[in-house]
Amino acid sequence: MQAVIRVDPRDGLYASAEADDFGAAREALWRRFRDRLIVRQELNRRLVSYQANKEQPGLRWFKYKEGFSAELVRAALRTGSGPVLDPFAGIGTTVLVAGGAGRPATGIEIMPVGARAARAIAVAVHLSDFDRIERAAGGLLQALGGRDADPVFRFPHVPITAQAFPPETEDGIAKARAFLDQMQEGPIRTLLDVACMSVLEEVSYTRKDGQYLRWDLRCGRALRSGMNKGPIPGYAAALARRIREILHDAPLLAQRYRGYASRIVEGSVLRELPRLAGGSVGLTVTSPPYANRYDYTRTYALELAWLGYDRGAFGELRQDLISSTVENRSKEALLAREYPRPEVLAQARAALESQAALAEVLDALRARQAELSNPHVIRLVANYFFEMAVVIAELARITRPGGWVIMVNDNVQYHGEEVPVDLILSDIAERCGFSCTEISVLPRGKGNASQQMGRFGRRELRKCVYRWRRTGNGDSG
Ligand SMILES: C[S@@+](CC[C@H](N)C(=O)[O-])C[C@H]1O[C@@H](n2cnc3c(N)ncnc32)[C@H](O)[C@@H]1O
Repeated sequence: MQAVIRVDPRDGLYASAEADDFGAAREALWRRFRDRLIVRQELNRRLVSYQANKEQPGLRWFKYKEGFSAELVRAALRTGSGPVLDPFAGIGTTVLVAGGAGRPATGIEIMPVGARAARAIAVAVHLSDFDRIERAAGGLLQALGGRDADPVFRFPHVPITAQAFPPETEDGIAKARAFLDQMQEGPIRTLLDVACMSVLEEVSYTRKDGQYLRWDLRCGRALRSGMNKGPIPGYAAALARRIREILHDAPLLAQRYRGYASRIVEGSVLRELPRLAGGSVGLTVTSPPYANRYDYTRTYALELAWLGYDRGAFGELRQDLISSTVENRSKEALLAREYPRPEVLAQARAALESQAALAEVLDALRARQAELSNPHVIRLVANYFFEMAVVIAELARITRPGGWVIMVNDNVQYHGEEVPVDLILSDIAERCGFSCTEISVLPRGKGNASQQMGRFGRRELRKCVYRWRRTGNGDSG
């Protein structure tokens, strides 16, 4: 039976009129795409994750665990030509590699943590006076051994970061903040600021782990469960190491990415994509947030606090992110009121309203609402697909005919209910004017035992790279 989705004006959720045929809609979607679900042995977790960047100049400075590898971007650049876009830019892996290959590239990133790191890398690429960084960095390290800083420079904790550092580290951080405060705004300060921010996790009692910050038992907080991180370096030692890395990498970056002509826009895709001209992009290489309850504002709490975010600003940022947490409220009413391109919004809605597999997932979850560990996962799934549909409709508008979108994403499941994110998003893409040529599947999907099959079953938590081509005449890519 065909399920029909309607927007419920009260809560912005999608409700299906008649999806009593449990599983059939997802099955039908899987049948439609199954010949395009191709396991690629050459794709491995390292390539689609931050792991492979550990040796990469610049990209190794800030451990952005949600990043993908420079190698993946290099491979993607072989597809298509023309300007490159990454609407979920993180620390700017796509723009750096594309820019360095001589392709004009634009990155959009809402988290100031990622955007700052991306900017620091860009600064290094364009730097010529390496002695100046060395001198400024030397001054910073010397200040850490100097007299105590004024209390106004103490780390601006928010409740979720309180007690994150040993007392002598708090002192070191305050001295660094005082030093940066008297520096002139400019590239060197940007670079040193990111250096100081990039070691916060390492010198703290916390570790970024899944959705949460995990805490070391030594922090003095009343913990229900804690871990032992092992030796925790002092601030001066960690910063000196990072600065050595930066001094080592800066000339390499300047040499390797000299052609770099890229820009990073700090802001939300939902505000920035409508500003891009139609048909202006040849290739998008990106990885959006996954629909997996991951909360960037929690994971990057130390860094956001470093940047001056208070509790209220944390909450606002969380609401602006693409919905991937149970706290996210619907953006439907806001976009209906303010979205500058109503035709794109209408296209996104139309693509969603005929998405039977999504209706089926939402109905199945709603039927078991009482059993869910958090009933708001239903809202999360609905919001996620609504916002991603708007992003996809925008990508269709700004991608020139024959242009490409290459997107890394994971499937998820809630309470045993599989959400085939790859199939649903690819279906939405096809309804918006793309043709999905392939959904490349990583050989080792999460929790599946059928890697040898060569083709995946219906109910797999696939980790995938989607390849969508804009239909219409033009560049043959
Ligand atoms: C999987 S990460 C991408 C990382 C990137 N590929 C890299 O190599 O660093 C997804 C990114 O989307 C960003 N993001 C989430 N919501 C956003 C929004 N509304 N606008 C722009 N970026 C957003 C997150 O902050 C995160 O950095």
